[in-house]
Amino acid sequence: MPPRLRATLPCLTAAALFALALSPAPAAAEPRATSDTPLALTPPMGWNNWAHYMCDIDEAKVVANADALVSTGLAAKGYDTVTVDDCWMTKSRDAQGSLVVNTAKFPHGMAWLGEYLHAKGLKFGIYQDAGSLTCEKYPGSGAPQGGGADHYAQDARQFASWKVDYVKMDGCNLWVPEGATKEEAYRDAYNDVAKALRESGRDMVLSASAPAYFQQGEWGGSDWHKVLGWVGETGHLWREGKDIKVYNPAAPATSRWSAVLGNYGYNRWLGRYAGPGNWNDPDFLIAGAPGLTAAESRSQVALWAMMASPFILSSDVSKLTPAGLTALGNTRMIQLDQDPMGRQGSVVSSNATFEILVRPLANGDRAVAVLNRSSATRDINVPLDEIGLGDCTAGAQDLWTGTSREVTETLTGKVAGHDTGVWRLSPRACAQAVPTGQIVGDGARCADGANTTGVGAVVMAACTGAPDQRWTAGKDATLRLAGECLSAGEDRIVELADCSDRAAEQPGQSWSQRRDGTLVEEVSGMCLTAPAASAPAERLRLTECGDHRVDQAWALPV
Ligand code: GAL
Repeated sequence: MPPRLRATLPCLTAAALFALALSPAPAAAEPRATSDTPLALTPPMGWNNWAHYMCDIDEAKVVANADALVSTGLAAKGYDTVTVDDCWMTKSRDAQGSLVVNTAKFPHGMAWLGEYLHAKGLKFGIYQDAGSLTCEKYPGSGAPQGGGADHYAQDARQFASWKVDYVKMDGCNLWVPEGATKEEAYRDAYNDVAKALRESGRDMVLSASAPAYFQQGEWGGSDWHKVLGWVGETGHLWREGKDIKVYNPAAPATSRWSAVLGNYGYNRWLGRYAGPGNWNDPDFLIAGAPGLTAAESRSQVALWAMMASPFILSSDVSKLTPAGLTALGNTRMIQLDQDPMGRQGSVVSSNATFEILVRPLANGDRAVAVLNRSSATRDINVPLDEIGLGDCTAGAQDLWTGTSREVTETLTGKVAGHDTGVWRLSPRACAQAVPTGQIVGDGARCADGANTTGVGAVVMAACTGAPDQRWTAGKDATLRLAGECLSAGEDRIVELADCSDRAAEQPGQSWSQRRDGTLVEEVSGMCLTAPAASAPAERLRLTECGDHRVDQAWALPV
């Protein structure tokens, strides 16, 4: 047992210590709507043509897929928004500046399509771009290159006149005025888009692509974090990163599994931004489509549901595999995705083989998912205390099969290669769940308290899922590892120190998380900061809080 260290900062009152208690994810930005009805209180569901048809789209294909949503029963289960992606228009606007539908592709026009969808009980979504041109170089809504008037208000009114319910606003070819940064230009453009939609006279959900234009790698850079910070004020959901791999008809068997894992990879750390009216969008569900096995299809549905992601199919709905259709239509999984509390799940532990996620649910249940990255079937053993349910027994419903059992101490099971098991745990007779799991920071590395670099040392290390990365976030604002508290030490070094006697008001051990992901230590007001990736053995420190610094953003257990 290492000698206990004492933090060295002055004492605080209990009230002050508790004031900054580690709060749950900050309230999401108010959803904006034209009417009083808030939009997208749960993640949007539906279908979009892009990842299957790309520009090869027309009215018949949209209608066929809408019909298939209804005939498969998926529409009745909530997959109700049918969105026409890029390439629906002609290459120029008309004399009044209105967008012109390509009538060779959409002979009845867009108002007709909206009516058709609405008559089926579906909603109508359409694609546009906040820049001067869409990604496929059709007229965008934004200012022309070199500056000038945009068409945000005009296009929003045109969409409203077609009774559009959902606008996917992409971010290709956006003009950056002189003197503005790219990030400022996107913020202004998307604010204007949101305003135009609000003032259009019709409630339309806004899917904003802004963050995707700033993503570099899984942890991203400062600008990406800035955009993630404001995008929820403009959009109800947003694409933060790379596209899911599209279907290639010339090579239909090409695996798309690594794209699923890649998009899962960047989305899993962003839970703090999600909540009713605000959703991280890791892109389309391609479950049941060519390129994913049955197990991989289940995994995509499960991981997306754990992350409260939009459930937007992009496939030929009439050709979904039976296993894919079963996974997508699993009402327990849909209910998980659509849980009214809207809290995104977080990663408890991750390593080369397993990924364990937990998601707190509105009725007090906790969903647990175990992804098996390996290609072989594995036994799994998840002790309840590792997922925040120490002292509990729990009812455990397997969400794939619907069967339930009682669990004491450890959830066990088998998960096939590339598959994901999901259970809904209903805790019995125990205190509230304690957020437990990894604290993840810069470079998607884990805060690690292994004692290899000194007594009480906390460094960054590759995530392993091992106990020296298993933190708990207490209601008393502490962050604990193996019974010790993350504490402000001497010379701004952060270390693990005794917190067994919290009544003595140990200072420097209270942390609060802000929406930007910073963890602020209460006494100093400074931010927990990861060492540079090139110096992994260096300790975590407190430094002045900066503006969306990637080394000061953290993903916490929920
Ligand atoms: C991309 C977007 C895709 C699709 C495409 C259309 O930027 O991520 O989902 O909309 O543009 O050109």
